[in-house]
Amino acid sequence: MWRGAFVAVLLGLVGGCVGVDQTGPCSARGVCAPWGVGEDEEESEGVEGEDPDDPGEGDGDGGDDADPGIPGADGLPCAVRDALAANCGMCHGASPSFGAPMPLTSYDDVVVPAPTDPTRRVYEMMMERMTAEAGMMPPDGNISEEDSAVILDWIAEGAPQDTDAMCGESEPDEPNPNVGPENLPCDAEYVMTAHADGNDEPFVVPTQGADNLYRCFVYASPFAAGEQATAWAPIIDDERVVHHWILYRASSGNYTHGSAVPCDVSLQLTADFVAGWAPGGENVILPDDVGLDLGQPGDFYVLQVHYNNTAHHPDAWDKSGVAFCSTPTARPKTAGILTLGTTGINIPPGAVAHEELGTCGFLSTIFWPPMHILSTSPHMHQLGRGFRTVLERTDGSSEVVTDIPVFDFESQGMYPNDPEIVVNPGDTLRSTCIYDNPGSASVGFGEGTSDEMCFNFVLAYPIDALANRNCGILF
Ligand code: HEC
Repeated sequence: MWRGAFVAVLLGLVGGCVGVDQTGPCSARGVCAPWGVGEDEEESEGVEGEDPDDPGEGDGDGGDDADPGIPGADGLPCAVRDALAANCGMCHGASPSFGAPMPLTSYDDVVVPAPTDPTRRVYEMMMERMTAEAGMMPPDGNISEEDSAVILDWIAEGAPQDTDAMCGESEPDEPNPNVGPENLPCDAEYVMTAHADGNDEPFVVPTQGADNLYRCFVYASPFAAGEQATAWAPIIDDERVVHHWILYRASSGNYTHGSAVPCDVSLQLTADFVAGWAPGGENVILPDDVGLDLGQPGDFYVLQVHYNNTAHHPDAWDKSGVAFCSTPTARPKTAGILTLGTTGINIPPGAVAHEELGTCGFLSTIFWPPMHILSTSPHMHQLGRGFRTVLERTDGSSEVVTDIPVFDFESQGMYPNDPEIVVNPGDTLRSTCIYDNPGSASVGFGEGTSDEMCFNFVLAYPIDALANRNCGILF
């Protein structure tokens, strides 16, 4: 189920807009216009143009397969090909994306030397990463036991080539109609994207040494007082190297508009989480009576992009980021971030599955109006292995708000709650951070990358009803 959630990171939040197909009416309230009729026309023209290629015959090297499809079986047993396509294909497609260094679509792909360790073959690394505790593949750990067994058993047999496999076409990988400003039902006037330091040129992702590069792009807030966001869209420019991004807003600190700088590790403490995207993330469209708090005109926005150029692309120039639609007049309800979690962290050396608990309890929530949760974005550092937030009702029942059994520090996004979850006065929100500590020293809370954090950034409304937007956290 969390595979779905991962794919749906940042999913449109209006009930009617979620997972809607391209043609269906979107929302009874008309929040989402049906996606451009014009575009559909364009597409069909495109298809007509390609008709001579006759789809039925396409096989082998996938000429007209545009790129992402996984053509033929290419020496892989069909079941292996399909399991790889379903679980790895989003990133390790024919042209790899989101920082994945190699394709996993053919026999040749898996028998060549591994990108980061040429003394070993890719399939050996696959075995290692699919059974790893940390750095697991797929990154959200969500692969069915069957699919995992299909791949691992085949590798255990020595990854034999299957030249006779007749599997038919694999499922085509269609572009997602719910991603990008052009697919928003409004004009996204405000765009914040990666750029060079001090000018509008693209950010040049280095060819070497950018295996794990965080860069922060700073903007003076472009929004007027009282303006609210109504929808936003990820812009993913060079998808070969963009791994994930988080947008923060800071009301104090030493920031220069237009700068592109190394990121301050304490952003989570000194700035507010605004939005995030990870592979699979989609446009967000707020319910039509809810607007997102955009802070004060003097604030700064900091777009933190995580790049991964393990494949050493020499021409990775990027302008990824986010585009916002806004309204100058506030909507009846204001959404913003409520922070849950704890700073009371003490992870002993050698600990496995150590839990820290943050409780936002009765004494806080009893003073709240019913609080609507739209999405959550957990944050831990390198030792984080799992995360969950559970809502306990006063009648003793409970509901899962966030459940990430395999947490990956490298892939942080927003996990939508659809339908939204309503916290009633007196309910308790318990957040549990789960860590492994392979080191020989205990680890506590802190800003450094070797310290730990345990937060859940919850997008909720009406946020302006809260005097304190942290709950259960003692600083
Ligand atoms: C959401 C994107 C994504 C998915 C899905 C994904 N990977 Fe990855 N994979 C990456 C990224 C990014 C890297 C490079 C960073 C790293 O090593 O963690 C990577 C690296 C790897 C590596 C290491 C290669 C090397 O030489 O170091 C292996 C092996 C791998 N993936 C296998 C898989 C397999 C097998 C699956 C499916 C079962 C899978 N991945 C699914 C994104 C993904």
